[in-house]
Amino acid sequence: VKITYVEQDEPKGIAHAINLCQEFVGDEKFLVFLGDNIILKSILEFTNEFEKSDADASILLCAVDNPSRFGIADVKDGKIKEIIEKPKKPKSNLAVTGLYFYDNEVVDIAKTIRPSARGELEITDVNKAYLERGSLHVELLGRGVAWLDTGTHKSLLDAGAFIETIESRQGLKVACLEEIAYSAEFISKEQFSKLINEYPKNE
Ligand code: G1P
Repeated sequence: VKITYVEQDEPKGIAHAINLCQEFVGDEKFLVFLGDNIILKSILEFTNEFEKSDADASILLCAVDNPSRFGIADVKDGKIKEIIEKPKKPKSNLAVTGLYFYDNEVVDIAKTIRPSARGELEITDVNKAYLERGSLHVELLGRGVAWLDTGTHKSLLDAGAFIETIESRQGLKVACLEEIAYSAEFISKEQFSKLINEYPKNE
C-alpha cells in the first residue's frame, strides 16, 4: 500500500479536494471516500463493479431520518430525477453517501464548479453534471447495511457507541487493518502475529 497525503487547508468543499488531487489521480478512474463516513460492509463489491462497468460515475444511497443534513436524491423507478444538497423540504429520505466513484473526467468537471451559498465547491454539483448527461449510476444500500456519518458531535458519539456495541457483542473487531490484511492474504500468519504482538495491551 502506498499512501499519499494532500492537504486541503481550507474547508472549500469536496469538489475542491478533487481539484487538489489531480496529480495523484493521473488519468485513472478513482473513488472518493469521505473521512467522516463509515459503511459497515465491504466496499470491494462496489469498487469491483465500477471497475468493470462502463458507468461514468456511481453513487450509493441510504435511507436517513434527517434528510435535511445531506445530499438527497429524488428517485423514481430506480432512476434519479434530481439531487438536492441539504434540502429544506426533502422529497425523499435517500441520502447520497460519502462514497463516490468517478471516471477521470471528474477532474475537468470539478474545475467548472462554482461556490455554493455555504462557500463550498459542492460534490452534489459534480454529481448533477453526470446526472444531466444521463451517466450517473446509482446503488441503494439496503436495510441490513449501516452507514454512519460522524460529521457532528452527536453523530460521532452515536457511531462510537454503535461500533462499541458490535465489537463487544461479537468479540470481533470492526475495520481491524491487521485482520483485513491477513484475511485478504496480503500478509502471512507470521507477519500477522508479529503485528498484533506489537500491541500487547490491546484487546
Ligand atoms: C457531504 C455532501 C453531502 C453528502 C454527505 C455525506 O456533506 O455535501 O451531499 O450527503 O457529505 O456524508 P457535508 O459533510 O459536507 O455536510
